[in-house]
Amino acid sequence: PIPVIIDCDTGVDDALALLFAVRHPGIDLRAVTCVAGNTDVDGVVRNTLTVLEQAGAPDIPVGRGAARPLIEPARSAQHVHGADGMGDLGLPAPKRTASELDAVALLRREILASPRPVTLIPTAPLTNIALLLRTHPEVTRNIERIVFMGGAVGSGNATPVAEFNVWHDPEAAAILLTAGVPITMYGLDVFMQVVVDTPDVHRLRASADPGTRLAGDLLAHRPTAIGEEPEAEEAGGLGDAGAVCAVADPGGLTTRLLPVEVSLDAGPTRGQTVVDRRPRAGEYEIHEGSRERALVDVALEVDVERYVKLYLETVEAASRT
Ligand code: BDR
Ligand code: CA
Repeated sequence: PIPVIIDCDTGVDDALALLFAVRHPGIDLRAVTCVAGNTDVDGVVRNTLTVLEQAGAPDIPVGRGAARPLIEPARSAQHVHGADGMGDLGLPAPKRTASELDAVALLRREILASPRPVTLIPTAPLTNIALLLRTHPEVTRNIERIVFMGGAVGSGNATPVAEFNVWHDPEAAAILLTAGVPITMYGLDVFMQVVVDTPDVHRLRASADPGTRLAGDLLAHRPTAIGEEPEAEEAGGLGDAGAVCAVADPGGLTTRLLPVEVSLDAGPTRGQTVVDRRPRAGEYEIHEGSRERALVDVALEVDVERYVKLYLETVEAASRT
């Protein structure tokens, strides 16, 4: 199996990602690290520990990370993910607490201790990952690649042009993109497409297995998009879990290696991932100066049916064993 660490802000769809990672036989989830995003970092830790217990994986180490972005104050997304940051499902409090190691220390230990290079899957603001890369740059020698949920080629969600995870900590995202390790951007363009049908959600909710039932309850949660009527958005989105599907089954994703830059401006583009899709970008170099832009494997298309099937089969198969 592929050694994986997920850095998350659990989070309705982060929880879906954790459930899938724990149950996929091709993934060896070695640790989970937490960062402020959808809710405050202590809420994220609590939600993460609860999800891992419900999924039957209570021993995976969980590290508490950054309580706020590098520069900006913390801003939660409780309007989308509920007061507890995870859909207000009334889940029990976790039985254990987080690791004594903080997120950066845990990431460093697990990456360097892994016999095979680790795949990192950040599904949250990139604060922990930026701190790791700046504090312990030697970890890159044992990182296979980083597949992050964040950014967008087209429309944003936190602002017209910026996706939430990148917008929440743009400086951290910029540090990630220039880290010199292979990076795949699983952005909003594909993220929004992978949706489970209602009858499947009902079947999961009726399962006797707590982990499967939790996946169904999370999928039934209707996110409320900023500025929209409550419950305007469709339920059933796999969200962050799609990025883990992309690691388990890369063939379901069409990507292209493209220059990407994060806008760090104070104005309306702050947090935008500017993706250069021009066929002959070099022609205009003279106007742009000679600064180097990171080449990122950007997800452009996703096989929705393939990932929905993979998700359901993985989560439900584990409940039958
Ligand atoms: C991202 O923001 C969070 O609210 C979700 O968990 C996801 O990681 C989508 O923009
Ligand atoms: Ca998330």
